[in-house]
Amino acid sequence: MSSVHVPVLVSELLNFINFEEGVIVDCTFGGGGHSKAILDKFPRVSVIGIDQDEDAIKRGLELKKIYNERIKLHTKNFRNIEEVLEEEGLEKVNFFMLDLGVSSDLLFDESRGFSFIKSGPLDMRMDKNINITASFVVNTYPKERLADLFYKFGEERFSRKIAKAIVDYRESKKIETTEELANIIKKCIRKRQKIHPATRVFQALRVYINDEIGALEEFLEKSLNFLSPSGRIAVISFHSLEDRVVKNFFKKKEKEGFLKIITKKPITPSKREMRVNPRSRSAKLRVGEKI
Ligand SMILES: C[S@@+](CC[C@H](N)C(=O)[O-])C[C@H]1O[C@@H](n2cnc3c(N)ncnc32)[C@H](O)[C@@H]1O
Repeated sequence: MSSVHVPVLVSELLNFINFEEGVIVDCTFGGGGHSKAILDKFPRVSVIGIDQDEDAIKRGLELKKIYNERIKLHTKNFRNIEEVLEEEGLEKVNFFMLDLGVSSDLLFDESRGFSFIKSGPLDMRMDKNINITASFVVNTYPKERLADLFYKFGEERFSRKIAKAIVDYRESKKIETTEELANIIKKCIRKRQKIHPATRVFQALRVYINDEIGALEEFLEKSLNFLSPSGRIAVISFHSLEDRVVKNFFKKKEKEGFLKIITKKPITPSKREMRVNPRSRSAKLRVGEKI
């Protein structure tokens, strides 16, 4: 099956590629949309695609028929970037790109348990080998821990109320599906909101289970060591937690004299892109260049 994911900010990202020949690491390969656009526009550039979701990499292998040796794929967490580069025999690359979060392929596959629209088992692991699932968290964590988690990783205002509702519910029955969890949350939030009431809790669980912030911080800390001079790092984020991590890292490294911030303000999608692809609405692109 081919990817259903629509990549965001593609032309904007391509405009920041500052060389004609070299290696780009697409750390969040997903449906391969950004990788394909890069390979098509820059015939002397090769791409190393990384994704921790093995299904994404399996689907991506199709691209080898088109681009042959210009594309290499690895099932890996990008926090272990040094292992990928070692396997490829590379010390430096010209460009790192990250398009964070979850792909539409993962969201629409109900068996992976990311969606509150399509019911599935409460899973939410991008890497199927992670030993903690959403089911384990919502069915075993104490109330206070759940509330803290929803607040910290989802910025959910009703975190305590939702945590209480979950704990009350599971006293009589285990929470098994994404739909069941979404309904528990819906009942506690009566206020009308622009987003689905379960959005923030689902985000929090996903970010926590996949240690998304930890992985991003670890990758960023390592990244500059592997960039060639004038090499760039481009990150597309979708919520304030991850954007803050990128912004603060860029600022710190600029102050220390290791990085020049190329995007003084983050790049956001055009009105047209937001209309055509509503998922792009919260996207922010930041780019830095190694000094
Ligand atoms: C928004 S999608 C990327 C979509 C891609 N740019 C495209 O155009 O199709 C994010 C992807 O990054 C992967 N991902 C998220 N965190 C990761 C990590 N720490 N290491 C490796 N892959 C990760 C997810 O599995 C998902 O497939």
